[in-house]
Formats: sequence, structure tokens, C-alpha cells
Amino acid sequence: MWDIPTRCFHWLIVLCLPLSWWSAENDNYTVHQWLGYTLLVLVVTRIVWGFLGSRHSRFNDFLAGPSRVLAYIRGDSDGGRGHNPLGGLSVLALLSLLLLQAVSGLFNSDDVFFSGPLYYAASSSLRDAMGVVHELAFDGLMALVCLHILAVLYHQLRLKQPLLQAMIRGSAENRTGQRAPVPWWRALVILVIVAMLLWWGLAQAPQPAPMAW
Ligand code: HEM
Ligand code: HEM
Repeated sequence: MWDIPTRCFHWLIVLCLPLSWWSAENDNYTVHQWLGYTLLVLVVTRIVWGFLGSRHSRFNDFLAGPSRVLAYIRGDSDGGRGHNPLGGLSVLALLSLLLLQAVSGLFNSDDVFFSGPLYYAASSSLRDAMGVVHELAFDGLMALVCLHILAVLYHQLRLKQPLLQAMIRGSAENRTGQRAPVPWWRALVILVIVAMLLWWGLAQAPQPAPMAW
């Protein structure tokens, strides 16, 4: 049900996010920026995969309007095979916040040794705003991640739905896909293109003028 790329994106994000926090806490911005770029490439690739990936990874499979979300909350409809309508909203929120976090980081600086690659491309008010966004987005992310883990545990332990098994093995009892998955290597091609575009785009950004002695 969850194709290989979707599972890889998920568990790599789970690995990189705490490391990202930890590197910032330890003022290790060399490591922090690389984790940030990795997260940015993963999230952008996952977003493109939301249009080109396998059936249950596509946004049109799990993003529902308010009436379907309300019907699900009231218990008038089951969750379907992929993300349920409420879960779909949380996926959108998690991916949006991760994107905001990584993009705002590009404009950020520790005001001493390290500046993100777009720092010198921005006005001082934009830099300040992005600094605030970088802090607030992380608070939002932490709140959502807690909610996400609690929701997964509730479905897993209380409702006895094998969500975790499906996110690890790809499918589980009562959670199998309705169509064969799209070949996984397509995601790898998308990932390489996204990484190259990012690398090229950031290389165009203005850098500080060399010091005149
Ligand atoms: C670092 C924190 C985490 C973030 C940012 C995160 C983010 C996400 C995202 C974006 C999805 C949607 C997957 C997709 O369609 O691409 C998802 C699904 C899922 N996550 Fe996480 N996750 C985190 C931690 C965890 C942990 C610790 C667990 C295990 C307890 C977990 C279990 C799951 C499961 C089972 C699903 C599938 C839910 C379903 O069947 O609808 N996640 N997560
Ligand atoms: C999703 C990816 C990222 C996460 C989860 C993340 C997380 C964090 C956290 C928790 C902090 C400390 C809180 C704060 O002072 O704002 C921080 C600070 C910082 N981050 Fe990130 N970050 C990410 C991406 C990036 C990227 C891509 C860059 C630049 C290339 C970057 C540059 C910085 C800088 C320069 C600081 C220090 C800000 C200061 O001293 O005020 N971050 N980040």
C-alpha cells in the first residue's frame, strides 16, 4: 500500500529531523545545513511524488474536502485504504511545515560564523522574518509531530489498525493497495533532479563581497 519511496521518505525524515534539532542545539551549522538540505530535497521530492507516485501516495487519494473530513469524524465513513481524511490533512500540514522550516533556514544566520546560502540575497527585514519563521515553524512541527505520534498510537493500539506494519513493510492485513505501485526508481530520478536544481539555484545566490584590507 505504501510504496518504497514513501516509506523511505518517511523514515529518513524521522531520522534527519531530530538530528537537525540536535546539530542546531550544538551550534554545529556545518552539519545542520547538510541535514537541512537533505530534508528540503526529501520533502520537495515527496511533494512531487504526491502527483506522480503510486495511488495511495498521491494527494488526490487522501486530501478530502471539509464534508468528507466531518463525515469521517462523525463516524459516517471509514478511513479508506490510504491516509484517512483527517490523517490526510495532517500529512499536508507536516509537509508544509517541514518545507517552511527548511526554506526559512536558507535565509538564516547565527550572526557569528554561519549564514545560509540565501542570507545575502535577502533584505534585512526578510532575514529577520525568516529567523522568526525558522523558530516558530519548529515549535509548530514539534506540536504536530507529537499529535501525529499520538494519533498513530491510538489507531495502532486502541483501534487495532496495523498502521506501523504498513509504514514498515509496505502493506499489512486489511491495508493493501488497490493498484500496483509506480516503479520506485522514478522517485530516485525525481530526487536527483530536485537535488541538482536546488544546488544550481543556490549557487546563483549572491555571496558577501570579499573584505577589503
Ligand atoms: C520526526 C517525526 C515525524 C514526522 C515529521 C512524520 C511525518 C509523517 C508524514 C509526512 C507522514 C505521511 C507519509 C506520506 O504519505 O508521505 C507520516 C505517516 C506515518 N507516520 Fe510519521 N512522522 C514522524 C514520526 C513518526 C513516528 C515516530 C512514527 C511511529 C510511531 C510514525 C508513524 C507513521 C505512520 C504509521 C504513518 C502512516 C499513517 C497512515 O497509515 O495514514 N511517524 N508521518
Ligand atoms: C527542516 C530542516 C531544518 C530544521 C528542522 C531546522 C531546525 C532548527 C532549529 C531547531 C534551530 C534552533 C532554533 C532557532 O534558533 O531557530 C535552528 C537554527 C538555525 N538553523 Fe535550522 N533547521 C532546518 C534547516 C536549516 C537550513 C536548510 C539552514 C541553512 C542552510 C538552517 C540554518 C539555521 C541557522 C543559521 C540557525 C541559527 C539561528 C540563530 O542562531 O538564531 N536551518 N534550525
